Amino acid sequence: MGITLNETVLIENAEPQPNVKKLWRKAVRNAMWKSADKQTTKKSAADDPAFSYRWEHVRAVVKTAKKLAKLTGADAEVIEAAAWLHDVAKKAGDRHPQEGAKFALKFLPKTDFPAEKIPHVAVVIEAHMGLWRKEPLTDLESQVLWDADKLTKIGVLAAVHWLSGDVTRNRIGKTEDAIKRLKSARWRSKTVASMHTEPARRAAFHRFVAFDAMLEALKAEWNVTDVNSGIDELDSEVYERESL
Ligand SMILES: [Fe+2]
Ligand SMILES: [Fe+2]
Repeated sequence: MGITLNETVLIENAEPQPNVKKLWRKAVRNAMWKSADKQTTKKSAADDPAFSYRWEHVRAVVKTAKKLAKLTGADAEVIEAAAWLHDVAKKAGDRHPQEGAKFALKFLPKTDFPAEKIPHVAVVIEAHMGLWRKEPLTDLESQVLWDADKLTKIGVLAAVHWLSGDVTRNRIGKTEDAIKRLKSARWRSKTVASMHTEPARRAAFHRFVAFDAMLEALKAEWNVTDVNSGIDELDSEVYERESL
């Protein structure tokens, strides 16, 4: 729906506002872009890397978190802001959830993000650590971000992201390296078991199965075990008996 005539008059008559705060959606995206760009350039073997693992990961988390928020009734604004900023302080290593939460508390007040929701965003960011959990999270928004972050690490999408990221860092030179890298992600079953929300749990199961099927197919193609006569052992025995 376009702008009505009344709204146009209102906009034209509006006084320019001093200290207009940044639009939060654009601001959180830009903040993450800058952080991802730094992280990627630092870790990459190339001066101008074509693929940014961190940026693509965060974009996937935002999409997933927004969908989960819709399906679970979680606060969409808290989720979207937290998803964009959850890895903004990744350079702090294991402390990046805490540092990311601190960043959100400082950064979001400079934007038009609803002030009363800012502490909740920080709580959600701080809670996203770990690939699996012994104790489930209890806050719905924290559950949604945790599930969204981990959903991007157990399926075919994760495989594409890891391999692309590892190529950019010169960690993969051979097909065997790629297979080894994918085989090493054995922890994924614990991640699936740690999902909090129902839609994430269902998707996690499917993604887990799809990843394993893909890895088996990759191994079979590389080892050429999928190329055979088309007659399995049982068939070939029958064939030999009948041809006597
Ligand atoms: Fe993280
Ligand atoms: Fe993440």
